[in-house]
Amino acid sequence: MTTNRIPTYPIDSQFLDRWSPRAFSERTLSEDQVLTVLEAARWAPSAANLQPWRFIYGVRGEPEFNTLLSLLVPFNEGWAKHAGALIFITSVSSFDGERPVRSASFDAGAATLALSLQAHKMGLIAHAMGGIEYEKAPLVLNLPDTVRVEAAVAIGYQGEVTSLSEALQQRETPSVRQPLSAIAFKGRFEGEIKSPA
Ligand SMILES: Cc1cc2nc3c(=O)[nH]c(=O)nc-3n(C[C@H](O)[C@H](O)[C@H](O)COP(=O)(O)O)c2cc1C
Repeated sequence: MTTNRIPTYPIDSQFLDRWSPRAFSERTLSEDQVLTVLEAARWAPSAANLQPWRFIYGVRGEPEFNTLLSLLVPFNEGWAKHAGALIFITSVSSFDGERPVRSASFDAGAATLALSLQAHKMGLIAHAMGGIEYEKAPLVLNLPDTVRVEAAVAIGYQGEVTSLSEALQQRETPSVRQPLSAIAFKGRFEGEIKSPA
């Protein structure tokens, strides 16, 4: 368990031990490893069991990996290029082109946590990214109009922190959280909306 993540109530260690490093070793992942991680995402809950998530992946060393890498903003590309695989998380915003799937992003988020925890269980690290070239991505990924890019996730083996720039080395540590009292309210909202950052 990491030392700066202290829960107020006892929870399973996977929730504390999972974090999002940026230092990846350049070790590739097998397609089976990537599909195992996506299998966990497949079993995530979704509204009406619509399973609106769609995943597009590329494994390091194969051409798709570089294509997906080119869809990240330069900041993310700089460290994610060492990952073993990249996964783009997309969601179906409508199945019939008329009625929206209101919870599509919410459901895709649940699937993303599932795959991140599965990766952690497998001794891998996963790092989600919202820093994507959103204009370019749908074209390159061949997405229908009703499919929306939600995020990307870099997965792989953890590498040496020295592979990162000095600035990123400073940030390469598990983050903390705001207190439970700032986010959980009995009966009605009582808080103040403040950004923790
Ligand atoms: C939707 C989403 C978008 C994110 N975008 C980025 C990103 O573009 N670049 C990055 O380095 N980290 C990104 N992160 C990682 C978060 O900063 C990280 O999850 C957060 O600080 C909590 O840290 P932890 O995952 O280590 O617990 C993103 C995470 C999520 C869930």
